[in-house]
Amino acid sequence: MFYPEELVEEVRAKNDIVDVIGSYVKLQRKGSNHMGLCPFHNEKSASFSVSSSKQMYHCFGCGVGGNVFTFIMDYENYSFVEALKLLANRVGVNLPEAEYSEEAKKQASIKSRLLEINKEAAKYYYYQLKSERGQAAYKYLKDRALSDDTIKQFGLGYSNKTGDDIYQYLKHLGYDDSILRESGLISFDETKKTYDKFWNRVMFPIMDVNNRVIGFGGRVMGEGSPKYLNSPETKLFDKSRNLFGLNFARVSRKPNMLLCEGYMDVIALHQAGFNNAVASLGTAFTGLQANLLKRYISEVLLTYDSDEAGTKAALRAIPILKEAGLTAKVINMKPYKDPDEFIKALGADEFQKRIDNAQNAFLFEVEVMEREYDLGDPEMKTKFFNEIAKKMLVFSEEIERNIYIEAVATKYMIGFDNLRKLVNRYGAQMIVGQSDTKERSHDNLKQKQKPEDGMKQSQKILLTWLIEDTRIFDKIKGIVDPDDFTEDLYKQVAGMLFEQYFTEHTVIPAKIINRFESKEEQNEVASLFTTTVRGDMTDLERKKAIEETVLRIKKNSLDEQSKKAIEHNDILALQKIIKEQADLQKLHISFNDG
Ligand code: UTP
Ligand code: MN
Repeated sequence: MFYPEELVEEVRAKNDIVDVIGSYVKLQRKGSNHMGLCPFHNEKSASFSVSSSKQMYHCFGCGVGGNVFTFIMDYENYSFVEALKLLANRVGVNLPEAEYSEEAKKQASIKSRLLEINKEAAKYYYYQLKSERGQAAYKYLKDRALSDDTIKQFGLGYSNKTGDDIYQYLKHLGYDDSILRESGLISFDETKKTYDKFWNRVMFPIMDVNNRVIGFGGRVMGEGSPKYLNSPETKLFDKSRNLFGLNFARVSRKPNMLLCEGYMDVIALHQAGFNNAVASLGTAFTGLQANLLKRYISEVLLTYDSDEAGTKAALRAIPILKEAGLTAKVINMKPYKDPDEFIKALGADEFQKRIDNAQNAFLFEVEVMEREYDLGDPEMKTKFFNEIAKKMLVFSEEIERNIYIEAVATKYMIGFDNLRKLVNRYGAQMIVGQSDTKERSHDNLKQKQKPEDGMKQSQKILLTWLIEDTRIFDKIKGIVDPDDFTEDLYKQVAGMLFEQYFTEHTVIPAKIINRFESKEEQNEVASLFTTTVRGDMTDLERKKAIEETVLRIKKNSLDEQSKKAIEHNDILALQKIIKEQADLQKLHISFNDG
């Protein structure tokens, strides 16, 4: 997939970033920027800034940033090409047929045809539900207290009793066996006879975050096995990377999401106003799903079934959520089995109370652990506290650890100091077990990072200044060049900026973002152009600050070079560097005059 850079640049230039982002996020003009609530993390006060002059955005809260392409890619979860198409479309730029490789073309067309097939199937199932033949299914859903609006919102449907109904329908639409084979909707036996995978079931379309149907779950009406049948994984449908309901939950603008086990739980919760509920797809919760959630929220409330299987599933999900950097809490649904039953029995207000009283995941783990010990038996009780003490070591901050020690000590009435001693004993054992070299190298790292961070900051600030006032390029010419930037990424970016300026006499920072492929790099590059500097400097102060920064960067660069020269015993290079270091004093004056 390759589009010429000029074309990409044309699309970017025609899509004003303030207009584009403004259609997703409410923006307010603040000085030369537009500010709004960051759509990539939850916040109450605006730290998401969009710059019209730079055609870039940056969030001072979570650090995301980029140009109009990266925004669409992130927000819509699109690939670069998908974002390019959307933006080209928006401003009426025609994209030529991309030069795909034969294989890429084939795969892309398979995927897009599978999307069509799933969409057609979902429409068909929905239509069937509303038809004469779907009456029993419709009644089933109504009996489960789903409204017509809910049925429509989730696109619920019905697959007919006849064994090859959807097959015939899709054939009639013109899809051939080879693609239908990949759809997961049809089974082929050895004699090439075909069967619909789903028949006589209530159908739950599974959508990706962009509302595209990628698979189905089908439930028997009443008793029967299996209760739910799911589409197999296909080129479209990756169960470990999608969550049922996320297409709705991601725009709920709530600070957390409810993670439950079943499709019906999600639907019942949404219907009751909890539009931030999601579920995994008949498989165990994965790290990829946790990362997906992390894009939208920072806290997950587990609403798994209250039975043993549900508890086990929750215990497995908690470390996965923590690993992804999410806070986990557990909702108690007793005496009901799942959120669907709870809401039917007690209603939304009672459920909200359960949300408000959700239990901290660590205390939930302790409570589950407690069930394995007979606390009436002194020996078992001692073992239990030892286990807790060991578990406490996951908290590396003393304050946090103390809070948990306090909570557990109060609950089991063993006294704060007693439990803390126990925890410290395990802590000491752990440290003895560790090699102390590790500790020391950790210390080294800390010490070294400090001056280095200052230098990084200086280099970032200079890059921001350069794009904000391009006259600085001419002033620093011959003093600082891209090679003086010691961070690899900064060096690359400086190289591109210098090239833009000295060949085209204009700099377009937003264009540079496209040269970087990884999200992390794009965010970092964006942050290079939006480094905050005190805004209230006088001209003279500003001049001075620029001069000092330039000198600091140059001096650092020469120091690094001289270290290398000494290492390689390169006397000639060293002499040259020493001369440059001496010249730096004079530069001091000439720069000030300029
Ligand atoms: P549950 O058995 O807890 O069912 O399965 P449920 O969600 O309460 O469903 P209802 O209320 O009886 O209709 C939870 C989830 O596990 C998967 C499905 O994704 C289901 O939503 N599952 C369950 C299957 O994939 N196959 C099954 O046979 C059962
Ligand atoms: Mn249920």
